[in-house]
Amino acid sequence: MLDSRDLRLPRIADPCVLVMFGITGDLARNKLLPAIYDLANRGLLSPSFSLVGVGRREWDDDAMRNYVEKWARAGARTPWRDTTWEQLAAGMRFVTFSSFEDDDAYQRLTGVVEDLDASRGTAGNRAFYLSIPPGWFPAVTERIARSGLVERDERAWRRVVVEKPFGHDRASARELDELIGRIVRPDDVFRVDHYLGKETVQSILALRFANTMFEPLWNQRYVDHVQITMAEDIGIGTRAGYYDTIGSARDVIQNHLLQLLALVAMEEPTSMDAAAVRAEKEKVLASVRLERDGVLDLDATTSRGRYAPGYQGGIAVKGYLEEDGVAPDSRTETFAALRLEIANRRWAGVPFYLRAGKRLARRVTEVAIVFRQPPFLPFDDAATAGIGANTIVLRIQPDEGVTLRVASKVPGTQMELRDVTMDFGYGATFNEESPEAYERLILDALLGDAPLFPHQREVDLSWRILDPVIEHWAASGSPEDYRPGSWGPGDAHDLLAREGRAWRRS
Ligand code: BG6
Repeated sequence: MLDSRDLRLPRIADPCVLVMFGITGDLARNKLLPAIYDLANRGLLSPSFSLVGVGRREWDDDAMRNYVEKWARAGARTPWRDTTWEQLAAGMRFVTFSSFEDDDAYQRLTGVVEDLDASRGTAGNRAFYLSIPPGWFPAVTERIARSGLVERDERAWRRVVVEKPFGHDRASARELDELIGRIVRPDDVFRVDHYLGKETVQSILALRFANTMFEPLWNQRYVDHVQITMAEDIGIGTRAGYYDTIGSARDVIQNHLLQLLALVAMEEPTSMDAAAVRAEKEKVLASVRLERDGVLDLDATTSRGRYAPGYQGGIAVKGYLEEDGVAPDSRTETFAALRLEIANRRWAGVPFYLRAGKRLARRVTEVAIVFRQPPFLPFDDAATAGIGANTIVLRIQPDEGVTLRVASKVPGTQMELRDVTMDFGYGATFNEESPEAYERLILDALLGDAPLFPHQREVDLSWRILDPVIEHWAASGSPEDYRPGSWGPGDAHDLLAREGRAWRRS
């Protein structure tokens, strides 16, 4: 008999080989390799787990081990244990590719993987992690298909894990999907949106659907508007090569912010199965409209900006155009804001304002549900002068938690009202430290658990929303400059001010 406590048994991935394309990139160094070490250290990978790195360097296996050790030590969340490391390192191999079109290298890769299957008992289970620029997808997928690495084998699984960008518009996202579809079945494709791996993002569905008190208010009768903010205080760092062809809207709105919107606005799923949750997310994404009251005016409902040179935290910082690797005539935005509506019974008429940007005042990601004013206030005007709107803030990061903002009486002999906050903080409530998003996502991909990975249909629907905005911007000159450490361009402020509203903290 299964005891309910058995549900808490750790989920351990099958023995398998993870082939990582892009192992020398920023993402692998900073996130993927430390996450793999942490998973191994938590005992969640099989002892046979093997990691094959693919790259242009002339490395042998030991050189790759040194490299992985350096970055795992630098980024791991859990303590360093030599026994964990030695076991992990024993399953590491490196295959030098002179380019992604190097046919011989795919043959060598096949040999290495087959050898691991035989020597480490990885049983033919393979995951290919593609953390490479999308331009290389045709060359890589075609050669993986030819190599026999993904040939069907009913006793083993073959999966592809893909990093964004999932295309640069709707048409290219469809092409990309078609390419990946040539090597594995749709259910074996795991598209990474690392926001879905964050505990606080997963917890949105818990807050909404495991409680009684929020859902009755979660609709156009009570909600005035919703603000979704992803602000970063950093610039683009060394990522110009990636970022300058992408910009803020493609980098984070197409994926992270629209996923947040979907989780906040969707209907209750029939269960927490991947198919049930995705079906609700798809419905709500399909209902998103750029029109305001039926009229499309993207100049009024979108805003974009680019950080100028200036000071942040008292330190002189470069403007976007001066960053190394940015084209001098670049028109890429580092800040983007949009006003969206959702055409359904629950949300008709409620604006959803989304904003994201680099070099803003501080690092914060949050969703604020801002409620309507009470229809009647039985107090003097002077008593209520200090109160704003009731707000539920889902604090995604840093300072993860939930805040409720409500009015309260100020102690004293007079009736004077002021806003107070009720706070729940993950850090103060739970002892366990949250795993990094990538730990959860890599583990889920190796387990074949799909709920935290967006389906191609969600990707497609997100591009449906963004394509007209990006086309409009492409035809309308350069983004407006904003000061580092500010909350973005003046235009973004106007976007809400025009409707008698204001961004939080701006
Ligand atoms: C990535 C973007 O998806 O998310 C980066 O490509 C951004 O530009 C990063 O800096 C932010 O992630 P997090 O987890 O720090 O909010």
